[in-house]
Amino acid sequence: MENKAVWDILGKITDLPTLPSVYFKVDKLLKDKQASIENVARIIEIDPAMSSSILRLVNSAFYGLSSKSSSIPHAIMIIGFNAVKNAIVSVSILDTLHIKDRYLNFNISDFWRHSVSVAVLSRQLAEKSRLVAPEDAFMAGLLHDIGKIIMLKYFKEDFGRVWKTMQETRCTFYDAEQENASIDHVQIGAYLARKWELPDHIVEAIAGHHYYMTSEASTGLVECVMLANALSNSGYQIHPDDYVFEGHIEKAVTPLLADTQSWLPQAIAEIDAAYEFFLEGKSPGT
Ligand SMILES: [Fe+2]
Ligand SMILES: [Fe+2]
Repeated sequence: MENKAVWDILGKITDLPTLPSVYFKVDKLLKDKQASIENVARIIEIDPAMSSSILRLVNSAFYGLSSKSSSIPHAIMIIGFNAVKNAIVSVSILDTLHIKDRYLNFNISDFWRHSVSVAVLSRQLAEKSRLVAPEDAFMAGLLHDIGKIIMLKYFKEDFGRVWKTMQETRCTFYDAEQENASIDHVQIGAYLARKWELPDHIVEAIAGHHYYMTSEASTGLVECVMLANALSNSGYQIHPDDYVFEGHIEKAVTPLLADTQSWLPQAIAEIDAAYEFFLEGKSPGT
């Protein structure tokens, strides 16, 4: 389907998930180079629920910080402005991902686990390859399949056809979408990320996590998310020869794929810790 048609359908949905105004305020301060620990903290602290969620996230096991933060200014000092901005997105989308709708045998817990595992694996790949900011990779990984949830909520018939085809033929969700849906989760996710004014390379990582095209201009984020998704979907079995990368990406990524044993066990432990955090306080329905 042409992008314009996808945009037209999505543009008519009036209650798509939004990011809180605190995100846009912090983003503006950062873009205008006006951010200080004090003024960013002040904006976040206006919302006590947001503040406590951010502190809980920053202090959770998967952030792996040796000292705990008891205040937003301290958290900003430790993890930095960009990571705090991304933390606002991460905690904000929890409600979006937390759907209660029971539909066919779609299991939201499995969806969460996959999203969290791609977030953690993307962050690890970013950290080890030094290609992009690890916190950007975490957020892009967490969001990469958000289009599936939007499809389930707003394009239920399409989702139903895709889900049934997937179960009957054992193909991937993405392959089933191409024949059975008017729209796919990649297009929806990229649309949402753009609407939220997330940085271009995060939009591109969501858009490219299934049909990756190697590019000289790539920052490496799309590669981290695409590979993390492939690792998560294959039970951590992927082969470097299956991918073609531009020189600067290949140099950074191929050694990691050839030696997964040196970093995957730690990443898998982090996935468990991160998943605990995302489940805490939620009672996942299916
Ligand atoms: Fe996907
Ligand atoms: Fe995925």
